[in-house]
Amino acid sequence: MSPSAHVVPIVDSTSVFMPDIFKGKVLFCTGGGSGICRGMTEAMMRHGANAAIVGRKLDRLTQAAKELSEATGQECIPTQADVRYPAQLKDAVAKTIAKFGRIDYVICGAAGNFLVPISGMSENAFKTVMEIDTIGSFNTIKATLEHVRASKGAYIHVSATLHYNGTPFQAHVSAAKAGVDALSAVLAVEEGPNGVRSNVIAPGPIAGTEGMDRLSPKSEAPALNGYPAGRMGVVGDIGNATIFLFSGAAAYITGQVLPVDGGTMHLQSTF
Ligand code: HXC
Repeated sequence: MSPSAHVVPIVDSTSVFMPDIFKGKVLFCTGGGSGICRGMTEAMMRHGANAAIVGRKLDRLTQAAKELSEATGQECIPTQADVRYPAQLKDAVAKTIAKFGRIDYVICGAAGNFLVPISGMSENAFKTVMEIDTIGSFNTIKATLEHVRASKGAYIHVSATLHYNGTPFQAHVSAAKAGVDALSAVLAVEEGPNGVRSNVIAPGPIAGTEGMDRLSPKSEAPALNGYPAGRMGVVGDIGNATIFLFSGAAAYITGQVLPVDGGTMHLQSTF
């Protein structure tokens, strides 16, 4: 699959938010090479931010950074790192500071996922997702916090809604995202006095992303019938929530979880 195969057009947001609200600001986004986090980065860049995107695969990052820069007119740089390794993240942060001189916003979005029941899940499979999602978010916070304090900036953690109930085959991700939610809340409380905010976006089913493809490769058509909003989400829906939460309009919102799921978490099964 080509690097840009999962790009879903951003929904129109420039008619809602001022196009230059993040002018002069810098975003650091783990997982920004693809899927939802790439869309979040695009949304921020379309509103004036420059960005560093972080991931394991340099070729995908480089291609994504080029496409994002061309599409938005802002600067995006690829910074290769595996979020499981603090030293790699510190290098990515140093590269970002060398290029842009600051970090205002951080998206902790790098995540792993696959469908497997607990009975069939190896210890290493569970540990791997915990290490990427939860420990990787902690590592990202540690690597960036001094810069986010300096800019009185903000964090958004990309979580999920599946851990609000018992979602089969998702024990690893459910445990990991519950940890992410808790981590964000503590960060918000501890760093609020330093001018730093931290919130969580909990995406529902978002069409056209690698995560969604892996979870339900053939599900889009039948699932549409059951969605309260009448459609699946698109990456641009998460982009709009990102712009809002990073903007001054959300200055008094911290330590919160914002589900962006078209109401699916409230959907009651009929059997
Ligand atoms: C069972 C699996 C597996 C699978 C990996 N493992 N894939 N077990 N079924 N499909 C096991 C391996 O066997 C191994 O355990 C352990 O996990 C580590 O696997 P590796 O491949 O060695 O690790 P690594 O190369 O680091 O890659 C792991 C991974 C990758 C990053 C988790 O497998 C992966 O899933 N990438 C997908 C990234 C992705 O889709 N991101 C979007 C997430 S969306 P053993 O015991 O054999 O050593 C998301 C949102 C959720 O999170 C909400 C949506 C609604």
